[in-house]
Amino acid sequence: MDAPADAAIPAARPWVALNCAVSMDGRLAFAEGARARLSSPEDLARVQWLRAEVDAIAVGVGTVLLDDPSLRVHWELIGATGGAEPTRVILDASGRTPPKARVLDGTTPTIVATSRRSSRTYPAHVRTIVAGEGTVELARLLPELRRSGVRRLLVEGGAGVLASFARSGLFDRWTVYYAPRVIGGARAPPMVAGPESPGMEATVPLRLDGVERLGEGFVARYRPGAEPTD
Ligand SMILES: NC(=O)c1ccc[n+]([C@@H]2O[C@H](COP(=O)([O-])OP(=O)(O)OC[C@H]3O[C@@H](n4cnc5c(N)ncnc54)[C@H](OP(=O)(O)O)[C@@H]3O)[C@@H](O)[C@H]2O)c1
Repeated sequence: MDAPADAAIPAARPWVALNCAVSMDGRLAFAEGARARLSSPEDLARVQWLRAEVDAIAVGVGTVLLDDPSLRVHWELIGATGGAEPTRVILDASGRTPPKARVLDGTTPTIVATSRRSSRTYPAHVRTIVAGEGTVELARLLPELRRSGVRRLLVEGGAGVLASFARSGLFDRWTVYYAPRVIGGARAPPMVAGPESPGMEATVPLRLDGVERLGEGFVARYRPGAEPTD
């Protein structure tokens, strides 16, 4: 992933990489968000390398509810011996993470980023960070993660969380794996949800840093086209 050396990481927040896998028509999943395994074996291995290079991996509670990911590094997929597992960070403003979700299983350090709206309590091994009144504000969460020792953060989705990072400009790299498949329909989630863009001035500018074939699909690598707002 070319994660930066410690000295190049911002002091105020972690270096942030967004990553996702989409169909050729830009869908993250099947209708109603049912999980689509879009990554090829080559892409799955790429994602394990991304996970292995970061201090923490973040997803939204929507992804936890629909996919129940473990957010662990699958060392066996990259032929590496196990190292330190990244911390899991769940963006969950109102406490909707199911008690039996894999991210709460206590096997790796876990943070629930939440808001004052939630009165939910968690097992002792889960740390909570209150980072907003009604939602999780990235501008409050990211500095807190940095103070907690998270220097490199990988954000894996889903559509709502990717929208927030995209709109805030609080990211440094965005890699997208495009699978050679069309999902189609009107109910399959797009890569990015959030507010509509009424015109070009409301779109999020990106710069394309590279495109690489990966098996039958390809990975495109972007960075923000505008300066971050932090
Ligand atoms: N193909 C891929 O690479 C990939 C990867 C991940 C997920 N997915 C797919 O993505 C879909 C889930 O996407 P989703 O949009 O429903 O859920 P999501 O982005 O995972 O989570 C969205 C939820 O997170 C909470 N949240 C807290 N703080 C937020 C913030 N600052 N910004 C945005 N959300 C925040 C909100 O719920 P509260 O207000 O209750 O907190 C929000 O509804 C699933 O279909 C999953 O399969 C695909």
